[in-house]
Amino acid sequence: MKNRAFYTGKPLFLGLAVAGLIGGVLVISSFIRVADNSFLCSLGGIKGGRGGDDSTTLIQLQAILHYATSNVVPQQSLGEIRVSFDVLQSLPPCNFLVFGLGHDSLMWASLNARGNTIFLEEDPKWVQTVLKNAPNLRAHHVQYRTQLSQADNLLSTYRSEPDCSPSKSFIRGNIKCKLALTGLPDEVYDKEWDLIMIDAPRGYFAEAPGRMGAIYSAAVMARNRKKSGVTHVFLHDVDRKVEKTYAEEFLCRKNLVKGVGRLWHFEIPPAANASGGSGEVSNSEILSIELK
Ligand SMILES: C[S@@+](CC[C@H](N)C(=O)[O-])C[C@H]1O[C@@H](n2cnc3c(N)ncnc32)[C@H](O)[C@@H]1O
Repeated sequence: MKNRAFYTGKPLFLGLAVAGLIGGVLVISSFIRVADNSFLCSLGGIKGGRGGDDSTTLIQLQAILHYATSNVVPQQSLGEIRVSFDVLQSLPPCNFLVFGLGHDSLMWASLNARGNTIFLEEDPKWVQTVLKNAPNLRAHHVQYRTQLSQADNLLSTYRSEPDCSPSKSFIRGNIKCKLALTGLPDEVYDKEWDLIMIDAPRGYFAEAPGRMGAIYSAAVMARNRKKSGVTHVFLHDVDRKVEKTYAEEFLCRKNLVKGVGRLWHFEIPPAANASGGSGEVSNSEILSIELK
């Protein structure tokens, strides 16, 4: 009896199920159409660039996919990353210059998704590798003029090269000052950077470029800032002698606002502010600022 009831009831059951399914699809698709015109549209949808809303951007979605499916995580610890994270959260979409491409690049770009994030990378092959997986990142290959092995000599001789004087404060075309990064794309010189992350180039073997030029150039760019506010400079690997010494020389202890793990965070005021607003700073004043 049970079986017969099942068989006799099956066509009716199937009919009801199919009708229910079609009804469901019609209801859902009409909701999607209505939502498309009102609710979802009013949220702004997915955006790939700068915008004035809170919707998720394409680069953020790509970052979620990437980090959800990758075993490789950024080298900075959570505590170190949080220092820059907090600053990025506190600012409107901003100009963010990052030395080095790495496993953290998608993260930095998506934490500043509506801003302008640019990466500078020494290794052209590594640029290709990273961009193959994350084509929306904006990265440039950069050639450095220094080697880590020259760090001590550059530090003890830069003051005798007039074009290295912070009062001259120029990077673009400053061939005579070896610490100035002269091979950057124009966009890097033309913009004022709100955040500068120095986690490259490599500085752990004698022939590597070292971070001397990146630190010096970041300091000059920050001091040249015309916009209001400070430049946030983050320097990683300050447990190493060169990073620490150059940071103390050019970014200055008095501008150091936070240190977590191997990361230092500096807030560098424009030179105009540091010198009381005139924009002109004497050499002795600069040296005393640098050596504090
Ligand atoms: C000191 S590492 C910092 C990496 C970054 N903070 C991260 O979390 O991935 C920076 C430099 O190392 C090099 N590099 C990093 N990962 C690499 C890789 N997987 N293969 C080749 N070079 C790499 C690149 O030249 C890069 O600019």
